[in-house]
Amino acid sequence: LTDITTLLLSRIRDVEDYPEQGVMFKDITPLLADPVAFTALTETLAEIARRTGATKIVGLEARGFILGAPVAVSAGIGFIPVRKAGKLPGATLSQSYDLEYGSAEIEVHAEDLSAQDRVLIVDDVLATGGTAEAAIQLVRRAGAEVAGAAVLMELGFLAGRPRLEAALDGAPLEALITV
Ligand code: PRP
Ligand code: MG
Repeated sequence: LTDITTLLLSRIRDVEDYPEQGVMFKDITPLLADPVAFTALTETLAEIARRTGATKIVGLEARGFILGAPVAVSAGIGFIPVRKAGKLPGATLSQSYDLEYGSAEIEVHAEDLSAQDRVLIVDDVLATGGTAEAAIQLVRRAGAEVAGAAVLMELGFLAGRPRLEAALDGAPLEALITV
């Protein structure tokens, strides 16, 4: 492990049986509260944004907002929120995707993206990949190009990576740590 992955791992708290029995929740609030760790995370993701030539960061509600916004500022590019359905006031594109039980829907303001944009999608966790895959579809439907996806952590025991790599169609998937 590199110094940065050791630092980040040390600031993620395991919470047993949350939000339900049998689930180990990965709580990033200790990382956010530590300015050294949060800055290191932000700078690592901003470097990925620069390397991939991203012109916009798309952050996924809610935790992707917290991580993605400072990355956009650090990289000197814009931030675009992908929100859960019903929260954006303007003309939106929406995309639904399947959950274990039922489905979910996310939206973006269509006018925030153009054919000139290259988008780096930022979120905290890659689990099944359903959320990020739906975000990729939104970005492409808005006419922009997907430069890649970057997450703080990947849950290696789920099949999120192959699913997301297929959706990314050659664009890079960066996970800073795998748990
Ligand atoms: C969590 C997590 C990712 C997503 C990953 O968000 O923050 O966004 O699930 O799961 P997937 O890869 O299976 O799609 P969630 O909507 O639970 O909560 P949040 O609003 O706190 O980010
Ligand atoms: Mg989330």
